[in-house]
Parts: sequence; structure tokens; C-alpha cells
Amino acid sequence: MTHDVKDLSLAAAGRLRIEWADRTMPVLRQIRERFEQEKPLKGVRIAACLHVTTETGNLMRTLVAGGAESTVCASNPLSTQDEVAAALVSEFGVPTFAVKGESNETYYQHINAALDTKPNITMDDGADLVTTIVSQRGGLVPDIIGGTEETTTGVIRLKSMAAHNVLKYPIIAVNDAQTKHMFDNRYGTGQSTVDGIIRSTNVLMAGTRFVVVGYGWCGRGIAMRARGLGARVVVVEVDAVKGIEAVMDGYDVMPIAEAARIGDVFVTVTGNKNVIRREHFETMKDGAIVCNSGHFNVEIDIPGLETLSVAQREVRPFVREYRLAHGRVVFLLADGRLINLSAAEGHPAAVMDMSFANQALSVEYLVKHARSLERRVYAVPAAIDQEIARLKLASMGLAIDTLTEEQEAYLRSWQEGT
Ligand SMILES: NC(=O)c1ccc[n+]([C@@H]2O[C@H](COP(=O)([O-])OP(=O)(O)OC[C@H]3O[C@@H](n4cnc5c(N)ncnc54)[C@H](O)[C@@H]3O)[C@@H](O)[C@H]2O)c1
Repeated sequence: MTHDVKDLSLAAAGRLRIEWADRTMPVLRQIRERFEQEKPLKGVRIAACLHVTTETGNLMRTLVAGGAESTVCASNPLSTQDEVAAALVSEFGVPTFAVKGESNETYYQHINAALDTKPNITMDDGADLVTTIVSQRGGLVPDIIGGTEETTTGVIRLKSMAAHNVLKYPIIAVNDAQTKHMFDNRYGTGQSTVDGIIRSTNVLMAGTRFVVVGYGWCGRGIAMRARGLGARVVVVEVDAVKGIEAVMDGYDVMPIAEAARIGDVFVTVTGNKNVIRREHFETMKDGAIVCNSGHFNVEIDIPGLETLSVAQREVRPFVREYRLAHGRVVFLLADGRLINLSAAEGHPAAVMDMSFANQALSVEYLVKHARSLERRVYAVPAAIDQEIARLKLASMGLAIDTLTEEQEAYLRSWQEGT
């Protein structure tokens, strides 16, 4: 099988959307132009498990330009943009396995189809390729030189694998680059999560009690953007430092049990499981809207909600109404999967530009240096991070200052004081 996509006749529309995203991905485009000349990935087989969006389309074009044989499968059953998947196959010749709304079974068939290409490099968003290799397809390991990981949850899983001595090859944690999480997780997730909630419900944000569970990079962005639209934001945390940060950023901070009673809209972004549970649904207001923007659909206790409910129905695309025994209803969005990628388009291309520049340059780094790396999780080299920031600023026509020689010497010294 060379591909499994919904409908190849969507390819022309997909190309237009991929090209539209490319307009705001200048850093990745520069890398692609250099890759076309230098072919640093010549003959390298890459299996990528990513959200199949327009931006991923441009990353695949970049890897192919560098000489790689690249295959892509979905990293979430609901995040695929079917026209992009079609264009990748028909317009750009990239074997693609992704259909929006695919079952869990098909999801893993697609992962295995990507792995059937015997990759030299894996590119993950959530670590499903690596966990499948380690648990079921260990025979692929000798061909693999290394991998990259796109998101916080994947990095947590991979570090746990390294700690338990089951990680079989080096991984570069793209998520942990400053030019990734400080922008993609914060501004990308911030804007696109609010976008997904509004597209699916058309809720008025002004005056709404908007509960953000988890005040990490994503949570900060979501809270900031919800406040910008006039919502009254409540933050729920388990980390005292994040809690005090949220207070000083001007939000109400309280435990989920208290927030559950007053919230109109709830978003989980913790990377944890069961952070909104049965006992919280029981106390929610009639019409409360609950969704998730963390990586897996385990943040909301959906089985608990199912057992509490006496009736359910789909009332709009991505909106399921659960009627509870006391008569009130709770609306769950996108089956508890990433709301921004399910009901909206995911992050804007301008921010994915830096995330995927990190991916492309990390793959090039692996091709050059993997043999000297151990079986653990590595940071993106600082020089790559700085270079991406420099290129992004330059693409915006912005300049920054450089230290004078005197300032450099002063910052290295200790003698001068009061
Ligand atoms: N939707 C997207 O497009 C997108 C983009 C980037 C990352 N993510 C995912 O979002 C999740 C969060 O990523 P991040 O970069 O913000 O991580 P982070 O580590 O910066 O933040 C997570 C926060 O959640 C808090 N937390 C953990 N358990 C909690 C609980 N039970 N109640 C309240 N707070 C709790 C932690 O203390 C931490 O502050 C991850 O699953 C990540 O993979 C999604």
C-alpha cells in the first residue's frame, strides 16, 4: 500500500492550502531552498507521525527537497486535513496514511504502514512510532539512527523510556527548543484552541467563566487569548510556582472541584490524565462546555461522563451533549481530543515555521552526528535554536543589537562592582 487517504480528488484544494501556509513559513522555505542545493538527507528514509496539516505538508516538501524518502502518517485520528493528505500523495509524491475520523485500529495500521518503509529516522508527535517500535517492531531498530519528538507529552514518554533503559536510539526533543515551545505551545495553542472552541460552539467569550486546567506553556497562551476576548479566566494548577504565576498574571486560581461549579467553558492542557472527573461533572452548571487541548484524550474522564449520563446526542459537529440524571447537560467537544486540531486548523503556519525549522535542522543534525549520540533524549543544539530565531526576526524585517567588545568583556568579568 503506498497511501491511504480519504479522496485523491481533493489534491488540488490541498495544494492551494499548503502553498497558502508556505507564504508565512519563510524560515522553513529558506531551509528547503538550501536542502535543494545541498541534498543533506540524500537516501535517508524518514517515517513521520505528525498531525497531517498544511504546515506538515511544507515540512514533508522540505525533507524531500533534502533528498529524503519521507512517509507520513497521522499522529491523531481527528487532526488530519483530508485535502492536505490527498495533495501530499498526488501533488508531492509523499506516501501518506491519514484519514480524518479514522478508528483507533486504522490509526495503528497507518503507523505500521509508515514503519513498513524501514525508516532510518523517526519523527514523532507523541512518541507513538517509538513506542510501537519498542513494544512490537524491534526488528526495525538496526536500520534506525535516531528520531525527533515534537510535543511535551512525547518528550515525557521518551525520557521515561530512557530512564527505564528501553529507548533504543537517540532522540532530539524538538519540543524543548526555545523557538518551539515558547511560541508554538504558547501563541499557537493559545490562538488555535480558542479558535476551535468558537468554531464548534460559537460561544460568546466576553463575560464567560473560562477555566484553564494546567498553566504550562499551552495553558498560559490559552488563558492570555481567552482574556483578550473578555473571558473571566480561572486557572487550575498542581504546581505552586505556576499557581502563583497565574495569580500575578491576574487570574483567579482555585482547585478543579471549586472551578467545576462556576465554569462555563473548561479546557484541559496538562499532559496528565483524568484531571476533570466524574465528581466534577456532577457539580457543573447546565450547559457547561468541556474540551481538551493536551496531547491525548485521557485528560477528561470520558468513561466517567458516559456512566453518569442518561442520554447523549451529537448537537453540532464536534459537540456531544450528555444529559445527566439531575437533568443538566454537559457538552463535550471533539470526543476529548485536541480541540484546536479537530475543530479548527491547528496552529497558524507562521508559528509552525519555527517548530518545523527545528524538525528539519534536527534531522540534518542526526544524519551528521547520530553515530556519536547515546540512547537518550537530547536537546536541540543551542546554535540551531539561535539560528532559527535570527532567521525568523530577519524574515520579519527586524534587527536586534549586538554586544560591544566592552560589554562582552564586562559580562565575562567579576572585578567591576559598586
Ligand atoms: N493542542 C496542541 O496543539 C498542543 C501543542 C503543544 C503541546 N500540546 C500538549 O499539551 C499538553 C501540555 O503541554 P505544555 O507544553 O503546556 O506542558 P507543560 O509541562 O508546560 O504544562 C503542563 C502543566 O500542567 C500542570 N498539571 C499537571 N497535572 C495537573 C493537574 N492534575 N491539574 C492541574 N494542572 C496540572 C503542570 O503542573 C504544568 O504546569 C501536553 O500534552 C502537550 O503534548 C498540545
